[in-house]
Amino acid sequence: MSDGSGRYIMLVSVHGRVRGSDMELGVDPDTGGQITYVVELAKALIEHSEVDRVDLVTRRLVDPKLDSVYGEKFEELAPGANIVRIECGPRRYLAKESLWPHLDSFSDNLLRFLRNQGRVPDLIHGHYADAGYVAARLSSLLGIPMAFTGHSLGRVKKQRLLEQGTTEEAIEKRYRITRRIEAEEYALDNANFVVTSTHQEVEEQYALYDNYQPGRMTVIPPAVDLSRFTPPPRSWRNLPKIQKAIAPFLEDWAKPMILAVSRPDPRKNISALIKAFGENQELRDRANLVVVAGNRTDINQLDRSAREVVNEILYYADLYNLYGKIAYPKNHQSTDVPHLYQLAAKTKGVFVNPALTEPFGLTLLESAASGLPIVATSDGGPRDIVALCKNGVLIDPLDTDAIGKALLDAISDRGQWNRWSRSGLRGAHRHYSWSAHVSKFVNTASAAIRNSHKRQRPLSNAARLITADRIVVCDIDNTLVGDKGGLRELIRMLKDVGSRVAFGIATGRSLELTLSVLQEWKIPTPQLLITSVGSAIHYGAPLIEDRGFEQHIRYRWRPDAIREAMADVPGLKPQGPEGQTEYKISFDMIEGEAPSVTDVIRHLRRSRIQAKVIASHGAYLDILPIRASKGMALRYFAMDWGVGPDRCLVAGDSGNDEEMLTGNTLGVVVGNHDPELEKLRGEPHIYFAEKHYAWGIIEGIEHYDFFGQIRTHEPEFISNV
Ligand code: GLC
Ligand code: MG
Repeated sequence: MSDGSGRYIMLVSVHGRVRGSDMELGVDPDTGGQITYVVELAKALIEHSEVDRVDLVTRRLVDPKLDSVYGEKFEELAPGANIVRIECGPRRYLAKESLWPHLDSFSDNLLRFLRNQGRVPDLIHGHYADAGYVAARLSSLLGIPMAFTGHSLGRVKKQRLLEQGTTEEAIEKRYRITRRIEAEEYALDNANFVVTSTHQEVEEQYALYDNYQPGRMTVIPPAVDLSRFTPPPRSWRNLPKIQKAIAPFLEDWAKPMILAVSRPDPRKNISALIKAFGENQELRDRANLVVVAGNRTDINQLDRSAREVVNEILYYADLYNLYGKIAYPKNHQSTDVPHLYQLAAKTKGVFVNPALTEPFGLTLLESAASGLPIVATSDGGPRDIVALCKNGVLIDPLDTDAIGKALLDAISDRGQWNRWSRSGLRGAHRHYSWSAHVSKFVNTASAAIRNSHKRQRPLSNAARLITADRIVVCDIDNTLVGDKGGLRELIRMLKDVGSRVAFGIATGRSLELTLSVLQEWKIPTPQLLITSVGSAIHYGAPLIEDRGFEQHIRYRWRPDAIREAMADVPGLKPQGPEGQTEYKISFDMIEGEAPSVTDVIRHLRRSRIQAKVIASHGAYLDILPIRASKGMALRYFAMDWGVGPDRCLVAGDSGNDEEMLTGNTLGVVVGNHDPELEKLRGEPHIYFAEKHYAWGIIEGIEHYDFFGQIRTHEPEFISNV
């Protein structure tokens, strides 16, 4: 359905290689289970009757080494469900650890995408720390509810690495773990609900977080694609092709197959499995062991931990003389995986997962759906699965003897085998189907969406920037404030006109001083706050800082050099700490003694300093980065949000307003302005109001018919002169 009445859900999953088909699983550590999951989730969500649109947002990759589909801006997964690829830093592929510096720009680009399309999602769902960060940023900007799925957690990883003896510095350097944990905390700060796979994940993993709020956690067990995993057919016309990769290893491939499928990761504990098998004589006689652990061409070319795992497999096979009894195929494709389970089921074998920890255990569900009983580590995922599906037995991954016995028992008792097989199949369909997963998800999401509507804030204050096609931007002192009656009238007008018109302020005050004057005059928080004479931009009630702008104005900014160069200039007295910020150095000008702006600029240039110098009321002198000023900040905003300068009405009274009054903006100079603005009289698009303070702004709004058709009163050619 796509009549626009259903929910629009946006999934964000930044890293890895995301495409709709032929997932490149295991090509690198960032393209694994999470990527499969988000793609399947998007496809399953759009099937739900309450959902009419799903976007799966990921990073756009234009990399000659990769398939060109990763550079496509859109890829359809199903009608109504698309992969949307957004620029994020360099265009080439990057490991997830290198993406941190680019996530703010990713968020901004995503925001622009939303603005251009004019529809805001009802829910944004971040996957993993990086996308959790992005989702939290958008959710607080737009005021839309957010969901978070950690997939794996930084604090857990750090703990484990420390236990293994990795140093704090090494962990930091390799994994940027502090940044990751901070992103996770920030995501938890903002998330309306957190999706976890198991209860254990909540109790043992999320509990490590400062923001641990079990009430917001929803256990939604992972789902398995039941159309891909089915029990073996009664008979095969041709045996599946993976059988040919296995058979050469084995004396008699038709014996019960003990199957292990995992990444070649030491934590999957494969060596313990081979020991268990090798040391149990009866088991070795009656069964085969098939270990499928990733793909390889040359073992020496694998990364260190994978290489160690594969070498161990070879070592133990040799140590226990398992020739003819163990297979470890070198390569397989993802399409072979369902056949592996089927072959194991056909031989009345068993699937084994001996991992040291197993929070998830998707392979166990795939086995269940294939009618293959399981023997698995007694940990979070497997515990929930065995409890619901009753399709096998749990083991202690460190007790090789017990593992051997459990495997032998699983293949020996035929009655039990049949019961496990049938009940696993039933359980997988009942509890772990995508439709069960999605219906639980949509129920939780709908509750979050309803609650956020109830709060009467369908979109946050800042989100008005998405719907607005024009904005009124006012200086504060002596413009917006000064006359109570005018101010009240202006506020009422802005309220009445609706979400088409946004409201912003542009002031010399710091953010802090701005907030206090807004409060003092009971002015609702504007959607746009340009403060410190245009050296900082914040959005809306959540006061989100525009970090892109900060990056942008850093250019050539050398505050220490400036302070040094200005130290002995007579006639200027540094303002107190409230006048100074990281990007603004301000002075009070001593009448009759202060140098002119031109003199100050010349002095700075001769000291090899590039900066912007602005004087106001003949009393204040501000030194800013060359890319800052109210006018620059406003244009930066206008470009980013796609509101042209000619749709910005700006009002001011003094020198620091000059840069935003000139150019294509629709300028309004209030009647009570400082004489220093007189020189602008007669310039195009600058209206000198008669009335004072906010009444002057209102006069300007009427002059331009700014809430209506917008007219400039000037022949077109004037603006081109
Ligand atoms: C505000 C600021 C001050 C600045 C002046 C002119 O009063 O607080 O620091 O110098 O505006 O821009
Ligand atoms: Mg002013």
